[in-house]
Amino acid sequence: MSFRIVSTGSYVPERIVTNRELEEILDTSDQWIAERTGIKARHICTNETAEDLAIKAAQRTLESGNTSPEELDLILCATVSGPNVCPNLASVVQLGLGANCPAMDINAACSAFIFLLDTAAGFFARGDMKKILIVGAEQMSRILDWTDRTTAVIFGDGAGACLLEAGENYLASKLYTKGDRDTIKIPNKIGISPFFTGEEDKPFVQMMGQETFKFAASTMASDIREVAQTAGISESDIDHIIPHQANLRIIDAAKNRLDIPPERYVVNIDRFGNTSAASIPMALDELNSAGKIKRGDTLVLSAFGGGLASAACVIRW
Ligand code: ACO
Repeated sequence: MSFRIVSTGSYVPERIVTNRELEEILDTSDQWIAERTGIKARHICTNETAEDLAIKAAQRTLESGNTSPEELDLILCATVSGPNVCPNLASVVQLGLGANCPAMDINAACSAFIFLLDTAAGFFARGDMKKILIVGAEQMSRILDWTDRTTAVIFGDGAGACLLEAGENYLASKLYTKGDRDTIKIPNKIGISPFFTGEEDKPFVQMMGQETFKFAASTMASDIREVAQTAGISESDIDHIIPHQANLRIIDAAKNRLDIPPERYVVNIDRFGNTSAASIPMALDELNSAGKIKRGDTLVLSAFGGGLASAACVIRW
């Protein structure tokens, strides 16, 4: 027993920040950002947090799944940019929805949504859960150093969610972690212990761009190939690839290595930037809301990011 996806939902803050606006506050250009990343604009929070975005995406998901919060057996959430370490995001989503099930977070940075799906599959396999809500939500704008052009131009804010129901449509998955401390890191808030004599790191996203790029470009293609093989399908059987939206050139590198028609890759990085744990569910919801997924279609989701972690899975719609 695994699950099927009943419904999807997403939410982004209203404020759109274009590359041109960033030209005014950073030594950068629309042309550099568009050519090196594929990003043209991103949504940025002005008076909301990742918690607000998560609750709205979750409400939309339950509404379109005709499901009430009381029916949920579990809520699983992921964020690296929530306003609090405690309570976790899932507890706040539970409160916001008025649900009464257990709720917990899993941290796997940009790969987290697939780690959530896989964890949910484990709970369904126990046989005592019928409905699980999973949510990825980020306010990356609050953990960026807005004077650092190498990171500030890349990220955006948003949330995406899926309602899962016990079923048989999760066909294969792969989770991978290559333990690493330095390539991508987001140090926690600076402490003020009078006893601590070590050095504190700045609490902003720090990323070795080229190392991340190389890791991502190689794992995305090999992860997709591996889960397709595990599911017993060929690359050309895949109807939709939903890659983590981190850099258009990373998606293009995967396209070049795989035998899948380019139009089957879902790309929305131009409008949203990298929304970390929210990127895959947001792209999935966009595709689903546009009526582009047919019953029986085969979807492959593929992510990578801090950890270093990567993950992929095959889902039948
Ligand atoms: N505007 C203008 N110039 C810039 C900017 C900018 N915003 N940022 C960097 N540059 C400059 C650099 O200073 C450098 O200049 P130099 O040659 O004079 O030294 C030049 O552009 C090239 O810099 P690179 O870092 O080599 O640029 P690259 O082509 O590698 O692109 C990028 C950088 C976009 C970060 C890319 O490496 C990338 O996308 N990496 C992957 C990021 C990713 O996937 N992250 C996902 C995980 S995040 C998570 O898990 C939370």
